[in-house]
Amino acid sequence: MSKKILVLPGDGIGPEITAQAVRVLEVCRDTFGLALSWEEGLIGGAGYEATGEPLPEQTLAQAQAADAILLGAVGGPQWDKLPDISKRPERGLLGIRKQLNLFGNLRPAILYPQLAEASSLKPEIVSGLDIMIVRELTGGIYFGQPRGIRELENGEKQGFNTYVYSESEIRRIGRVAFELARKRNKKVCSVDKANVLEVTMLWRDVMEEVAKDYPDVELSHMYVDNAAMQLVRAPKQFDVVVTGNMFGDILSDEAAMLTGSIGMLPSASLDEQAKGMYEPCHGSAPDIAGQNIANPLATILSVAMLLRYSFNEGELAQKIEQAVSDVLDQGLRTADILSAGMTQVGTDAMGTAVVNALKALA
Ligand code: NAI
Ligand code: MG
Repeated sequence: MSKKILVLPGDGIGPEITAQAVRVLEVCRDTFGLALSWEEGLIGGAGYEATGEPLPEQTLAQAQAADAILLGAVGGPQWDKLPDISKRPERGLLGIRKQLNLFGNLRPAILYPQLAEASSLKPEIVSGLDIMIVRELTGGIYFGQPRGIRELENGEKQGFNTYVYSESEIRRIGRVAFELARKRNKKVCSVDKANVLEVTMLWRDVMEEVAKDYPDVELSHMYVDNAAMQLVRAPKQFDVVVTGNMFGDILSDEAAMLTGSIGMLPSASLDEQAKGMYEPCHGSAPDIAGQNIANPLATILSVAMLLRYSFNEGELAQKIEQAVSDVLDQGLRTADILSAGMTQVGTDAMGTAVVNALKALA
């Protein structure tokens, strides 16, 4: 049966980069014979402008009916000052993650050898880097209740959030991490702050419990402050890192920068049935929107993740990744990854190059 993808271009560079990813989908369908179809939907600022909501009801219905979702990015300065926070583009993204229960966020940090000079770290520390950060995405302090800003009796204001995880939430993200590790280098490092926070003491206990079902995978624990340090000191010690929402937010951005190129990093957000939403790690880059200079490779690599995790098409996913690598070998670079001696190309031309490289692998 044909698989259905919902494409949500969003704002800023979102439409430009998803257009290139859709061309890759076309090759998957027309050249590799994958039974695929897709339709577009509105989210973020685009959703707000059209319907008054950053996550229109119709989009949610389309998402629920789809087998997987491909998202560009949302947000832009024109919506930053909306007085009603619930209408901001980013709320559309949080909303769809929550509504679809996309609790498992996979963020690979891979350094392409062709881009080694882009990393802020020395080559000997970072070359060959290939780690996977697994971030819990629908719980923790970003969603915990109660939350707010209240006024104390003395008139002073107090802000508060609640850091909360239940055993079942920890267990299911733990399983995602261990399953991935099994297919990789069989190492999971769970990151917490169990020396201070009770919620992460429980996190640590539950990870130990999950580990019993995976005797072939080695589990280690690390405090988040140390993990932040180790990521820049010796990042290759890690294989799969699993952590909560807030720590994962921070560490995954840190890990992304080790590869030197925000324009190269895809991500997946999965529910329990591996129905997922796939998107580049970067935002809507309003500073370069509409100029045909954005790097579409993170979005194209998100298509590879989509095929691998939601459609079980690992081989074709690998071909897309190979095509991206081939294009880098040809010396083609968008502005964000440009270095001396390389050929600068725009968004469209980069998409064309990947399409051609992928067809050559048929
Ligand atoms: P950003 O990731 O959009 O941009 C940061 C810098 O990286 C900019 O200089 C931008 O030009 C560059 N950049 C990003 N993606 C690129 C690409 N594909 N090719 C070349 N250069 C690229 O982050 P920023 O500036 O903090 O946020 C801009 C907007 O995006 C805000 O409204 C923010 O809320 C939103 N945002 C949305 C996200 C999402 O939709 N998942 C994630 C992060 C931010
Ligand atoms: Mg972030």
